[in-house]
Amino acid sequence: MCGIVGYVGGQDALPILLGGLEALEYRGYDSSGLALVKDGRVEITRATGKLHELKKLFAAQLAVAKSSATQGIGHTRWATHGRPTETNAHPHCAGRVSLIHNGIIENYVELRAELEKQGCFFKSETDTEVAAHLLNTLLEKGLDPREAMRQMCAAVRGSYAFLAIDEKTPGHIFVAKNSTPIIIGKGQGENFVASDIPAVLQHTRRIVVLEDGDLADVTADAIYIENGRKPVERREETVSWDPITAQKGGYKHFMVKEIFDQSQAVADTLRGRFSIETGAIFLPELAGLEAVAKRLKRVILVGCGTAWHACLEGKFFIENFAKIPCDVDYASEFRYRPQLFDSDTLVVAVSQSGETLDTLGAIECVKDRATTLAICNVVGASICRRADMVLYTHAGPEISVASTKAFSTQLIALELLGLFLAERRDTMSPSTRRAIVESMIHAPVGISNALKVEPAVVSIAKRLATARDFLFLGRGTCYPIALEGALKLKEISYIHAEGYPAGEMKHGPIALIDESMPVVVILQREKTLFEKTLSNLREVEARGAKVVVVTDAPEDRQLGIASDFIIRVPFVSPELSPLLLNLPLQLLAYHVAVMNGTDVDLPQNLAKSVTGE
Ligand code: M6R
Repeated sequence: MCGIVGYVGGQDALPILLGGLEALEYRGYDSSGLALVKDGRVEITRATGKLHELKKLFAAQLAVAKSSATQGIGHTRWATHGRPTETNAHPHCAGRVSLIHNGIIENYVELRAELEKQGCFFKSETDTEVAAHLLNTLLEKGLDPREAMRQMCAAVRGSYAFLAIDEKTPGHIFVAKNSTPIIIGKGQGENFVASDIPAVLQHTRRIVVLEDGDLADVTADAIYIENGRKPVERREETVSWDPITAQKGGYKHFMVKEIFDQSQAVADTLRGRFSIETGAIFLPELAGLEAVAKRLKRVILVGCGTAWHACLEGKFFIENFAKIPCDVDYASEFRYRPQLFDSDTLVVAVSQSGETLDTLGAIECVKDRATTLAICNVVGASICRRADMVLYTHAGPEISVASTKAFSTQLIALELLGLFLAERRDTMSPSTRRAIVESMIHAPVGISNALKVEPAVVSIAKRLATARDFLFLGRGTCYPIALEGALKLKEISYIHAEGYPAGEMKHGPIALIDESMPVVVILQREKTLFEKTLSNLREVEARGAKVVVVTDAPEDRQLGIASDFIIRVPFVSPELSPLLLNLPLQLLAYHVAVMNGTDVDLPQNLAKSVTGE
């Protein structure tokens, strides 16, 4: 997850920017860079690796504690496409513009082609450089910087937090935000800009949080903010966080912070991995699959806990997109069972930590007999080192024991894998693939919108927090979500919960249902399964259970039942429905646990990484 810091004022900008980036290190990154304004000129310094590599380049200036810059912007980048090279690191420069960016520019291919026609020369493989060139072109046409920012933002499609410096307008940092967080820290005769509050806490506790569509012009003495070309006031808040709370982004627990990180985590996992114009999937890390994709006869997905639930969703992507039979197994079962497969098999190990012993064991026991792939969140983890190839999720560090953003990014990685195999095997028309890719681009915004159900979930949690047993039901792609909802609730609230395929309920669990048992039904909009699940729901309702419906069906679709609680999330695409429908379940588990006073981030008897059998 990338980090952003900006400073303009009377102090030496260099240590402020480096300190700010250090405070964001917990987000993870693999390169970094600064733009410092010195005597009206901008100097760019970038380095791969950790911040000490960047610091080495400033050793002389840091030794005399003087960089003679009082304005600058800094960035830590977590590479999501291509290698984490110096050229791809931010800031990106074009003419008089230096710019850093968090987010994803969806239409960068067409913008780049257009700018290249106009004579712009691109140095990096990033989407960000497009914004730098666009802004420079607009400034060179004579637009003032605010208008140039407005027009640049109107031209790009996607999510962004931009910080830009115009060499010809020293003393100003131009900021824009859409679906990617950005805050301004207010000082006396100085101001700060950052992607996250910890970056500025050493200097100020007066924070202004920008909203989507905001453009800001920040100088040492003034902060101008507008939205839709009209000046707006954003409320100043004073934060009183200690460093740990700061790392939690002001949230009470890492779990809820990580739930709200998901829009960004998914954007980071998607970035640079497809072309929206052609629907082509770019996963150079899977080059080893190019040769075998066509002859694959079987895919086996293995994982534990939440990662196993992601595998269950992955089966739909592999079978529907790539038309390859796909089995899913618990890693702990798979490794001790006769493995009857031939070499035309791909075994995929899914793991957030990459250290889960059973998943590692599963990969080790098939090594050299099948092609192996790890889907993992932690660079260089043991499972990644054992597998033939690695497809990284880019969720950023997940600290809470309960896995949330790792799950969402695993679903995205598995969807990309399904599309990648489909493209190589010609099992999907380019237009269908393009439509699916296009829908994936809307995932980050869909997640942000879906999380707006939190207040409704809190009031449901208040009514149900004292229940001792929960049942979660779903069909098709909503069945793994029922399992995941139940796992989340039981692991952090210690309330017994079971996930079941809705159609199986009448074969046993229905005996448990009475007025004391809340039943959470995940109801997708797809017509046939919607109706089938609804009829299961009626059986539940008839037995007096408290029913919570989580659905993405249109509002005018009749449920025909007196469901106690209905939570609606936006619909983006059938493929993304499970991801979005899972979000209210994460929030439900979280709020029920908080109400029951459990240790949410460190639940009893559990470890973040299970390195024993
Ligand atoms: O690091 P991994 O993804 O391999 O971990 C697998 C499980 O231990 C993990 O998902 C566990 O089930 C979580 N605590 C669930 O929230």
